[in-house]
Amino acid sequence: MQTPCILAVTRRELLIGTALSVAIPASAAPSAAIAQTGVKSMNSKVSFDVNGVSQQLELDNRTTLLDALREHLHLTGTKKGCDHGQCGACTVLVDGRRINSCLTLAVMHEGSQVTTIEGLGTPDNLHAMQAAFVKHDGYQCGYCTPGQICSAVAMLGEIKAGIPSHVSADLTATPDVTAEEVRERMSGNICRCGAYSNIHDAITEVAGRQA
Ligand code: FES
Ligand code: FES
Repeated sequence: MQTPCILAVTRRELLIGTALSVAIPASAAPSAAIAQTGVKSMNSKVSFDVNGVSQQLELDNRTTLLDALREHLHLTGTKKGCDHGQCGACTVLVDGRRINSCLTLAVMHEGSQVTTIEGLGTPDNLHAMQAAFVKHDGYQCGYCTPGQICSAVAMLGEIKAGIPSHVSADLTATPDVTAEEVRERMSGNICRCGAYSNIHDAITEVAGRQA
């Protein structure tokens, strides 16, 4: 067990460290990190299609797909929640599959087809899943909603393709869109407002129409 004296020093060091990290402006943080590690930034060119539009970008190799979409292409519908692959707010479709765009580097997607919430539908012509979320009030603050909708669209495609989940009883049959399947398959998309029951209603309505 630590003595009170050692504990006091540890706490002081912790406070100094915290103050220093707060004092470094956000714009200076990367260069500070680079100075510490000696790693220089390297840029690469990448071309991909986003919502049907061809895009050519020159990016720092460390740029995530999420930051490329939001900061470089100004498609801010895709949200940054945790930036650690834990909330699903950044879910987009890449070549038809849902991924957490905060966990993948943009330069890894040369030639990919990326679809964000802006590419699913328009205010005048909503995607069926967007319309169902509106109808069933599948949101409160709406922060998780773009990721929920992209994820739900891909999730129904996975079920239709017969891909089993951890809770599928029969690994060889096409799964039914049960509450258990939806909960399991959407478990990577967190809603801090707790709109889960309405999200579930929206998804099952769309699934029913597709059946
Ligand atoms: Fe990507 Fe949370 S921001 S999973
Ligand atoms: Fe607010 Fe889901 S609607 S986090």
